[in-house]
Amino acid sequence: MEVVICRTKEEASRLAADMITSAVKKNPKTVLGLATGSTPVLMYAEMAKAVREKKVSYRQVKSWNLDEYVGLPGTHDQSYRYFMNKNLFEKIDIRLSNTHVLNGLARDPEKECRAYEAQIKKAGGIDIQVLGIGSDGHIAFNEPGTSLASRTSVVYLTPSTVRDNARLFFKGDMKAVPKSALSMGVGTICEARKIILLAFGENKQDAVRGCVEGPMSQFCTASALQAHNDAWVFCDEAAAKKLKLRKYYAWRSAAKLGL
Ligand code: PGA
Repeated sequence: MEVVICRTKEEASRLAADMITSAVKKNPKTVLGLATGSTPVLMYAEMAKAVREKKVSYRQVKSWNLDEYVGLPGTHDQSYRYFMNKNLFEKIDIRLSNTHVLNGLARDPEKECRAYEAQIKKAGGIDIQVLGIGSDGHIAFNEPGTSLASRTSVVYLTPSTVRDNARLFFKGDMKAVPKSALSMGVGTICEARKIILLAFGENKQDAVRGCVEGPMSQFCTASALQAHNDAWVFCDEAAAKKLKLRKYYAWRSAAKLGL
């Protein structure tokens, strides 16, 4: 696992966006796995800037998102489909028909999840998977206690995730946050060829420590990335504060990225 520690989240977002821009330039048919949440917003803005500046095109790119709340239609302003349209898809030249988000209103959610996995497989698998990390160490909605081999399925949010998401997105109203979701599994996520995880702010210190230096454990599902051979963690200094080897990681990743 490579850990890139930047002074600010702006700098980290720029570097992560550069990695995606270069990959899409090299392979215009890149298959992306995308994430929602407050963390990737700056990176998405950087990706959109590169499109505006005509450095890259997403015309042939396909994407699959990590998760969606059960019960919210894609038109709901708190749905992840809505979030993606607003924060990225409408700002780049991707074809909306090439973007995929799980259907939170599916009549048969497990069937929806199986079909989603089949679509990803048919597209040749995910080349680059973007991830945030929950303050409890979750990736997608894979909460503590979820198997590291899990597949896309219906999942249940912990009270701490409901609290975090209420604070950031539902104007503090915990009752408004759906308590279940459809989510790619940890096993599904780890099949991506490259993984980019973003983590910013003090609130993520423990999660980042668990992910990078903790034992590999279903108690911190992000720790599954330790067994991935091309996983990159981009964080700011606040999120990296509890890492024992942070100076070494910063030096090594700077050398690898030619910074
Ligand atoms: P955040 O969420 O980016 O809003 O902090 C991350 C996550 O829960 O995966």
